[in-house]
Amino acid sequence: MTKRYLVRTFGCQMNEHDSERIAGMFEADGYQRADSEADADVVVLNTCCIREGADTKLYGTLGHLKSLKDSRAASGDELEIMVAGCLAQKDRESLVERAPHVDVVLGTHNVSRAVDLLAQHRRSGVPVVEILEETVAADHEAFPSALPVVREDPWAAWVTIQVGCDNNCAFCIVPAVRGPEVSRSFGDIVSEVERAASDGVTEVTLLGQNVNSYGRDLTLSLRGGQPADRSRELHSAGADWVTGERRARPLFADLLRSVGAVPGVRRVRYTSPHPKDLRPETIAAMAEVPSVCEHLHLPLQSGSDRVLAAMHRGYTAGRYLEKLDAARRGIDDLAVSTDIIVGFPGETEEDFAETLAVAAEARFDNAYTFVYSPRPGTEAANSSDPEVPHEVAVERMARLRAVVERSSRLGNEARIGAIEEVLVEGPSKKNPERLTGRTRGNRLVHFDVDPTTQAVRRGSYVEVRITSAATTHMLGEFRELVAPPTHRVRIPVASS
Ligand code: 5AD
Ligand code: SF4
Repeated sequence: MTKRYLVRTFGCQMNEHDSERIAGMFEADGYQRADSEADADVVVLNTCCIREGADTKLYGTLGHLKSLKDSRAASGDELEIMVAGCLAQKDRESLVERAPHVDVVLGTHNVSRAVDLLAQHRRSGVPVVEILEETVAADHEAFPSALPVVREDPWAAWVTIQVGCDNNCAFCIVPAVRGPEVSRSFGDIVSEVERAASDGVTEVTLLGQNVNSYGRDLTLSLRGGQPADRSRELHSAGADWVTGERRARPLFADLLRSVGAVPGVRRVRYTSPHPKDLRPETIAAMAEVPSVCEHLHLPLQSGSDRVLAAMHRGYTAGRYLEKLDAARRGIDDLAVSTDIIVGFPGETEEDFAETLAVAAEARFDNAYTFVYSPRPGTEAANSSDPEVPHEVAVERMARLRAVVERSSRLGNEARIGAIEEVLVEGPSKKNPERLTGRTRGNRLVHFDVDPTTQAVRRGSYVEVRITSAATTHMLGEFRELVAPPTHRVRIPVASS
């Protein structure tokens, strides 16, 4: 009997990506994907702890799985439970103490070990906890992108270019759970993108906590060394970017150029850059490489200089706006999104008014807004600054949403009449007759296609004329197919 696995993801894009790799490893090992917990033999919960609520959600789900596991055991069957991701990295052994029915706990640096650890658990019959402190750069399996994959959307690949983070934003738990910043080798990234493109992937998203500092740790020493070391170094640092007899290291901009030049890749996106490290070279690469989308996700976090300093963000609101202005001047028709936290300890009404003013001036197309939640062990969680009462934070959030929604709507309305290239994701959730997709600026578009004349498959690129706009989406008319999908269609294998 073929075993079935199910991966449930609770977190950010980095987690989604890890989940695709965990699924890939199970499938490479002969498992099939289950549709629900009820028909799964193994359930993997891939967790996140960036914001509050993840703990409650995880332990709630584990409670539900315990009943399922018990009833399976009563009928002589087994349900195996694994917990992976940031919460696993943070809670470690205490996770098994709190939920002894968990069979495997897997940290953020050893995703590649998922299937092996399950086998180890089966041999020993006791829970297995494996948590590494940090990613070992030389171990290329440490980058989840090097593992087999089952892609959620077969035309889209997430490619990890860097793990961990060397910043110390006062609110953020990422450095504690993902460790110091380690860049993946330049050559490995480009070959992964080439491989994905040969599978028909057309959209690539480069992932990292602070992508603009990519390559800081990949300095190539051009003097001395054996020829064998030299070729390894060149692979790591990217041979194209070495000029003359000096030390060289690749910039994120170089990576954008190399990835953007891979044949078959029509769209390159990335997330997230840190405003303090956004360099003119990156802006130039975005402007010059046709496949790199005109979309910048630039986390602001706060518009108050006092709060930004307390957060250790390394920029002022004025500097942020200057960088944004430089990006907009350099890149035609740039869409901009951001992350903002409301209610950081000590945030006053005046501080918040500055956030509103900066958000209005920045004219964001989209913003992910969060109410601050203390993460244990972070500097802000131990702050002596007064807490912002929850109801005050929620009320501020509503005012911020109104500002952001206004600029999103105006940005969408300004596109009425324009022709946009849309990557088709499938039928719209609300109206299955209608198709949904995203523009290069990552704006959501719904449009109708006459089913008698056109069959537009998911993963196609089409041209749409925008006819109307709302805050979260635009409506349009289908004009023509630009490119059909190129990804291979997975044919389900019947279970034996
Ligand atoms: N509270 C609220 N939001 C947070 N983020 C990170 N940590 C916290 C926290 N403790 C938000 C930031 C970050 C995004 C991924 O999550 O805005 O950019
Ligand atoms: Fe967290 Fe700041 Fe690093 Fe982003 S840059 S992961 S917010 S510490």
